[in-house]
Amino acid sequence: MAITRLDIHRIRNIQQATLSPSPGVNLLWGANGSGKTSILEAIHMLSVARSFRTHKVKTVIAHGEPQCTLFARLRHLEEPEMTVGVQRQLDGDNQIRIGAGQPSNLAELARLLPLQVINPDAFRLLEGSPSERRHFLDWGVFHQEILFFDCWRRYQRALKQRNSLLKYARIDPLLRASWEAELVTQAAAIDEMRKAYLARFSPVFQDYLAKLTGLEDIALHYYPGWDAKRSLDDVLQSSAARDQELGFTQHGPHRADMRIRCGPRAAVDVLSRGQQKMVVCAMKLAQGQVLASDHQRQPIYLIDDLPAELDRDHRQALCELIEELACQVFITSVEADVLDECWSSGCQVKLFHVEQGLITEC
Ligand SMILES: Nc1ncnc2c1ncn2[C@@H]1O[C@H](COP(=O)(O)OP(=O)(O)O)[C@@H](O)[C@H]1O
Ligand SMILES: [Mg+2]
Repeated sequence: MAITRLDIHRIRNIQQATLSPSPGVNLLWGANGSGKTSILEAIHMLSVARSFRTHKVKTVIAHGEPQCTLFARLRHLEEPEMTVGVQRQLDGDNQIRIGAGQPSNLAELARLLPLQVINPDAFRLLEGSPSERRHFLDWGVFHQEILFFDCWRRYQRALKQRNSLLKYARIDPLLRASWEAELVTQAAAIDEMRKAYLARFSPVFQDYLAKLTGLEDIALHYYPGWDAKRSLDDVLQSSAARDQELGFTQHGPHRADMRIRCGPRAAVDVLSRGQQKMVVCAMKLAQGQVLASDHQRQPIYLIDDLPAELDRDHRQALCELIEELACQVFITSVEADVLDECWSSGCQVKLFHVEQGLITEC
């Protein structure tokens, strides 16, 4: 998938901008505070209707404006172009359009425009809470398994019901048993899909890791969210009293994790910042590769400040792999020429200068 035209209205310091990006590499360069990250945010909003920096739409809409609007034309292989539009209002109203219609849920939008973000927050994959890694894992499973979204929704509903029964101590054993049965069924399906995805993803990740770093011994350890030696049903029964005291369910796929280790230690405790960035890039590129090869759909990459923390050889290695993936990519940088040497002669690179919210193609 590639954006062939992008219109941005009233996002942060960008009042109005229109871009015709390259299907390959797009380099957005400009001084600090010029609006580079805001362009990435705008593209992100087209995929999930919100920024990657904040959940508060108020901070994303340009000061003094009632709404922001994004519009894009998308091309997937040889298929006819399609349009997508997102409008978010200060009063909380949203308008989302795919072609002439309205999607029934946000998942439709996310499925249409898969995005991968590599920015300073991506380090949280290593140093952050399990929810960061679950989010990463579930991005992959969501795009890999069409049934995942429905299972996840049903699981969340059953979990909410069980928690509310626990919290208000309205213990109707039959009612609780019926929600627990649903919880356990959906949990098993989610767990299976996550394991299958990790089995598919891990060798691709190791391959990217080898190409990007000399690191050996980096491994992913999946934890399903409960003691895997026991059935979830059994765990729920034995933890019911404690769950009731706490008012929530302590075990289940909503507590899963995918720990990233370097030998016996957590990767974050051992690796330098630059090495961590390479591990994160290998993870994100591997997800794109799996999606592209299994579903013939390439994600769009948003890479905020690619050169930061990387020496010349690692920049080069990363750019080579990005080019090999043949995805559309938007890269920000303070300098225009820092990646000049990194692309092959055949690579379609477009350069955009960003200055005080104005974007000009160079
Ligand atoms: N809601 C907003 N309305 C208008 N300007 C904003 C808003 N939020 C942030 N800004 C300004 O937008 C500018 C661009 O920010 P950003 O895109 O992060 O810059 P860059 O990534 O180029 O360093 C900053 O100068 C910031 O002060
Ligand atoms: Mg920035």
